[in-house]
Amino acid sequence: MMCDDLQIAVIGVGGRGGVADYAHRPGKGSRLVAGADINSDALRAFAKRIDSDVSLYDDYRQMLDRRDIDAVFITSPDFCHEEHAVAALEAGKAVYLEKPIAIDIAGCDRILEAAYRSRSKLYVGHNMRHMPFVLKMKQLIDDGRIGQVKAIWVRHFISYGGEAYFKDWHAERRFSNSLLLQKGAHDIDIIHMLGGGYTQRVHAMGALTVYGDVTDRRKPEEKPQIRSIPDLWPPAHKQDSIQPLMSKT
Ligand SMILES: NC(=O)c1ccc[n+]([C@@H]2O[C@H](COP(=O)([O-])OP(=O)(O)OC[C@H]3O[C@@H](n4cnc5c(N)ncnc54)[C@H](O)[C@@H]3O)[C@@H](O)[C@H]2O)c1
Repeated sequence: MMCDDLQIAVIGVGGRGGVADYAHRPGKGSRLVAGADINSDALRAFAKRIDSDVSLYDDYRQMLDRRDIDAVFITSPDFCHEEHAVAALEAGKAVYLEKPIAIDIAGCDRILEAAYRSRSKLYVGHNMRHMPFVLKMKQLIDDGRIGQVKAIWVRHFISYGGEAYFKDWHAERRFSNSLLLQKGAHDIDIIHMLGGGYTQRVHAMGALTVYGDVTDRRKPEEKPQIRSIPDLWPPAHKQDSIQPLMSKT
């Protein structure tokens, strides 16, 4: 049977991989047909939630060899983006790449060069640019309702708490560069969008005041992100180790 739908694959099907589910619209233009992940539980959960014929791969390269796949969502951790995106673009796939593009400038340049050489489409997942409240702010600014923008102030909240980011790979320099890039990428992007320009000079101060002593952060291949629980304190402990600690008190 001929299939006119755009055939889409996902690298990194757990966690943020869920964003690809929106593209699963069989018979309406696009469908998910394959997923690759290093975590077999994540692959099983992906197959279950898609609930149609999807192929599963523990090696993303085999998936990219398939000529019937048109586009790829890359929702793997940041430090994998360079390898995965270059491979997908060079395989001629259109790519939705989660932010940040890569964890260093050389990695970003390699991805952009691969897109340029292959002429494959590349879209970076700065999804906040599409959020209604951001679009409303942009409209108010563009309409001149607040005059010239002099300053933009951002406070970044995580609705499910800091544990999820400070106790796994997100907070490890070798996997993400920094949380300023990993999480602040959203804010910096929106500041640029609303301010109508790009950063030229930076003054900064900061310290590892709360989570700096955490020494056993979860690796990318370990369990998925953890959600905060209100009693999880002190922050140097992993969620697993908090039970005996709390039961002593
Ligand atoms: N735009 C947004 O709002 C938003 C929100 C959350 C995450 N993200 C981005 O999505 C990406 C994933 O973040 P996450 O929090 O879901 O991470 P995660 O640790 O949950 O990983 C996502 C999936 O990738 C898999 N994975 C890990 N290493 C892999 C490898 N080498 N090859 C294939 N799969 C691999 C994991 O097993 C998991 O299933 C990050 O780049 C992050 O910045 C974006």
